Amino acid sequence: MRRVAILISGRGSNMSALIEAATAEGFPAEIALVISNRSDAPGLANAQANGVKTLVIESKPFGKDRAGFEKLLQATLDEHGIELICLAGFMRLFTAEFVQHWYGRMLNIHPSLLPSFPGLDPHGQALRAGVKISGATVHFVIPETDAGPIVMQGAAPVANDDTAETLAARVLSVEHQIYPQALRLLATGGVEIKGDITTSSAGVDAEDCLIAPLVI
Ligand code: GRF
Repeated sequence: MRRVAILISGRGSNMSALIEAATAEGFPAEIALVISNRSDAPGLANAQANGVKTLVIESKPFGKDRAGFEKLLQATLDEHGIELICLAGFMRLFTAEFVQHWYGRMLNIHPSLLPSFPGLDPHGQALRAGVKISGATVHFVIPETDAGPIVMQGAAPVANDDTAETLAARVLSVEHQIYPQALRLLATGGVEIKGDITTSSAGVDAEDCLIAPLVI
């Protein structure tokens, strides 16, 4: 049973998906702690309602002193024996030192098929690029934002009349499926980092494919 901390800044729907998945019999990880860098994050109440310990470490008072914030964060993670970190809508950048310390043990989820559309407004970027398939990516965190060895991806079709909001909602349900599965894979030792990429002990369905648009 690996001890996991989820870091949030807001709504926490991915956090909730992880918490729920971890209650399943035989899930190889335990959500030991949810940490928010904002006391007003709506996700905090949800974690508490599910019996998960929550802590707030306000990052704002630290301003540009990222190392100062991380020192407190690291002490808290150590105190709780945390082995793996899942970033779930955590809106604060880390120093390269912190990221290096957790390399291979810290996951993030981004709502696009990376390396396409990193950064802000990924759904707007996808719509402007006119892609017909978008999706979500779980990846190991490296100092560069929304980059790092990819652990799992899930695809979602883009509809003609999609707005950033409707596409976000479709991709979010993919996020909720893949983040728990990626954590399961990592916690069971099923992910191997080989340079900039990973290989996985889990197979693929070679027959499976998603085509959009669909011509009937
Ligand atoms: C998700 O779309 C996630 O991919 C991105 O931020 C959003 C967080 O949503 N990193 P939630 O807080 O998990 O609901």
